[in-house]
Amino acid sequence: MADVQVDRRKFLATVGVGALATMNAEDKAEELEHYMIDLLEGHDHGHGRPEHDEEQEVRAPRGTGNLFQANGREISVMPDSPQLLDFYEHRFAPARHVLQSANHALETGQPEETVLACLLHDVVQNLIKVDHGWWGAQLIEPYVHERISWGIRYHGALRFYPDDSVGYEYPDMYNRIFGEDYVPPKYIEDQYKEARAHRYYMDSRMITVNDTYGFEDGVDVDIGKFEDIIGRHWKAPKEGLGYDGSPVAHMWRTLQLPNTPL
Ligand SMILES: [Fe+2]
Ligand SMILES: [Fe+2]
Repeated sequence: MADVQVDRRKFLATVGVGALATMNAEDKAEELEHYMIDLLEGHDHGHGRPEHDEEQEVRAPRGTGNLFQANGREISVMPDSPQLLDFYEHRFAPARHVLQSANHALETGQPEETVLACLLHDVVQNLIKVDHGWWGAQLIEPYVHERISWGIRYHGALRFYPDDSVGYEYPDMYNRIFGEDYVPPKYIEDQYKEARAHRYYMDSRMITVNDTYGFEDGVDVDIGKFEDIIGRHWKAPKEGLGYDGSPVAHMWRTLQLPNTPL
């Protein structure tokens, strides 16, 4: 199967050449990753609209989560006391990118913690995209081993740095679209250095490796394949996610009820 193709012209038209010109390199790279994932997930990006609209469409900030964008996504009613699989079904679907990443980890015999980390690594983008490694780690922290949340926290920074020891190269796609002069800002570089020296470094690094296998067009992986691993490594709260009084319960309630005012 071929990776999802990024048409440079369409990408520029979607983001807007003007908007792109005002972005720093970090924002551009972020924008590209979101664009690729959205393509894969089949979210409407307004393809086919005239390239040079005089009146720029009013758009939500680029860091807005998928659930909060006006993209025609259905907000279905979730069961009471929802659990993780309910969120995959109702809020994260089709979740192709994370499912494909996790599937690669599974099929290549990586540790179950890595498989689960891959399955969870980008789901927070339904809530918010800005700084998604940090938000994503926080969302799941009470329910997993610390090496899983730690890995997710730092994958956002690590993806910009190669590691030959596991065959992770700086993604071609970033070079092709943005040129080869991209230098992450200092706070990202600092996170990279911190992660590089940490005992969980490889947990995070493997998320970035499996990430590159998560952009295959038209490939659907059944979440059921991961049920056993979730059962063994996800501490499901009996009250349901959002109702267990944890410090992140509000994040799960927000995912469940994005239309709730205030
Ligand atoms: Fe990510
Ligand atoms: Fe990813």
